[in-house]
Amino acid sequence: MTEHYILAFETSCDETSVAVLKNGQELLSNVIASQIESHKRFGGVVPEVASRHHVEVITACINEALAEAEITPSDLTAVAVTEGPGLVGALLVGVAAAKAFAWANHLPLVPVNHMAGHLWAARQVKPLEFPLMALLVSGGHTELVYVAAPGDYKIIGETRDDAVGEAYDKVGRVMNLTYPAGREIDGLAHQGEDVFNFPRAMMKHDDPALEFSFSGLKSAFINTVHNAEQKGQTLDKKDLSASFQAAVMDVLMAKTKTALKQFPVKMLVVAGGVAANQGLRERLATEITDVDVVIPPLRLCGDNAGMIAYASVCEYNQGHLAGLDLNARPSLTFESLK
Ligand code: KG4
Ligand code: ZN
Repeated sequence: MTEHYILAFETSCDETSVAVLKNGQELLSNVIASQIESHKRFGGVVPEVASRHHVEVITACINEALAEAEITPSDLTAVAVTEGPGLVGALLVGVAAAKAFAWANHLPLVPVNHMAGHLWAARQVKPLEFPLMALLVSGGHTELVYVAAPGDYKIIGETRDDAVGEAYDKVGRVMNLTYPAGREIDGLAHQGEDVFNFPRAMMKHDDPALEFSFSGLKSAFINTVHNAEQKGQTLDKKDLSASFQAAVMDVLMAKTKTALKQFPVKMLVVAGGVAANQGLRERLATEITDVDVVIPPLRLCGDNAGMIAYASVCEYNQGHLAGLDLNARPSLTFESLK
């Protein structure tokens, strides 16, 4: 078998990342330049700052990814890039870099949906089996996706308001934690108790079975903290975190179990930044035992180009290539892929 290598780019938000994937399965390099230090003081990602950072570091990331993989551009088979969803200015840097690289080296260009990337990160663990169910939980998305076959994605449930990661970051801000707060809240949650019993939304009998909502939980959390502050009390961050995390996980677990009942599958993939959550991983391990649960390793849960490379294999095999007129698609969804 001849060897094939893909060079992948990811710049949809605040990580500039370039990776090299060998033969569709072996990640030879996955360089991730994080901008978090620059965004921390603003409590979130500033789009203009993000774009500028991507421009500054992308060339160094390409060189490092190729050097670490010990290959040259002439060894490559294809170039893959995140076309969306994400911040338009940030996406454009990756798209422009990938197009220039593909043109200069006479390589085909493979556009990839960022959320498909999160899902395909699970390929690092083992070959995916279809049909599969994916619970995708990140800073911008919360969705249950039924995947009948590679590339055939159907959203069967999603959030009506905030994404899970976004809710973590917002309540983190109220507790004066640094952005992004998901990981720290997860740590604190393990040291506290669910004493506040925050609302679990969309769980009543006549609510849509597979839809999510987290803005009510966020408001309940903020009100609890502000009411206490007005009385001169300070609430325990460990108990607040444990209570918040329990409310989130109860909903994620219940909806996922319902989806698995409605759609029999061979595998459950749980991916995206929030899939790094230890509380979620523990509950998946103990409560979902009748289907194979696959979660990418921690370093592939957050944004990275390795996941884009894995997802691009499916697109490349199906002949989904782009021309040099490829543009960023900030609002791309699985539905718009059709
Ligand atoms: O997938 P990702 O890296 O970026 C997006 O595509 O949005 O997800 C980032 C999100 C942030 O909101 C961050 O707070 C959250 O993932 N996150 C976590 C954990 N680690 C990261 N949320 C809960 N628990 C964690 N351990
Ligand atoms: Zn992401």
